[in-house]
Amino acid sequence: LTTAAMALAVAATAQTATAACDDGEIVIKFSHVTNSDRHPKGIAATLLQERVNAEMDGTACMEVFPNSTLYNDDQVLEAMLQGDVQLAAPSLSKFEQFTKTFRLFDLPFMFKNIDAVDEFQNSETGQAMKESMTRRGLLGLQFWHNGMKQMSANKPLIEPSDANGLKFRVQNSDVLKAQMAALGGSPQPMAFSEVYGALQTGVVDGQENTWSNIYGQKFFEVQDGITETNHGIIDYLLVTNVDWWESLDADVRDQLATIMAEVTETRNAASFEVNQQNRQAIIDAGGTVRELTGEQRAKWVEVMKPVWEQFTDDVGQENIDAAQAINA
Ligand code: LMR
Repeated sequence: LTTAAMALAVAATAQTATAACDDGEIVIKFSHVTNSDRHPKGIAATLLQERVNAEMDGTACMEVFPNSTLYNDDQVLEAMLQGDVQLAAPSLSKFEQFTKTFRLFDLPFMFKNIDAVDEFQNSETGQAMKESMTRRGLLGLQFWHNGMKQMSANKPLIEPSDANGLKFRVQNSDVLKAQMAALGGSPQPMAFSEVYGALQTGVVDGQENTWSNIYGQKFFEVQDGITETNHGIIDYLLVTNVDWWESLDADVRDQLATIMAEVTETRNAASFEVNQQNRQAIIDAGGTVRELTGEQRAKWVEVMKPVWEQFTDDVGQENIDAAQAINA
């Protein structure tokens, strides 16, 4: 083993060891669905765990459950309302049953890149969105970035018409269903943990996701290739149960909130780079990445963007205008 590899092995052991909580510590279970070491969300969750367990030792103890090992995204919010888990970071597309405001983030070609998403979220409107579900028992603490979505299928996708008649896995979001329908595809909502198997067995033909999810779940192995469309985003809400959060002593809550804010700032700033590393890892592993010319991409915009009209009332024209002003 090299020194670096040994340091990693020691760190991994330490991490497992800290997962055992001491008597009297507030136990914070954090369930998520991606890998923990080379994914924007997974890395952020791991860092959060390390910092809480080091800096709040004796007071609080965080246990992170990655890779859908505790709950998948369809179950986790219900579990949170039951008090079985205290933190989760589902994508903004997964809050369909709780709020319609997040539909803005699913609209295709709404944000030109993740910096634009960041700027919108840090506006007053964006910050207010974190509290859009408090009456339903959920409180958003931070927005966490993943990145831009790409399209993949079991055949090359160059023109939007190539997607015609294909079955696409989507997250359970009305906007994403409408988007695939606009392409002449058939949307199939499905949990993240089931996508690889569904692609492999042909239950679905294609999917959309970020580089880190396509590499992390090995979707590229069971797809013809990935087309770099950058047509949408995957972003997350670090979310908790309002009652649990308010039950914490103010100093504990403040310390947690401060650590979360710092982890968010550090890891959000690195999310683009992590996705680019995953893009390269796909190529290195023999996956096919197809780039579009400006003219080809314009055709995808033309076919998908009319979906906005169906959701303007849900998301508010003023929010669409604000997002577009940031892109300009
Ligand atoms: C998906 O379901 O495709 C993503 O939301 C998974 C994730 O958490 O990135």
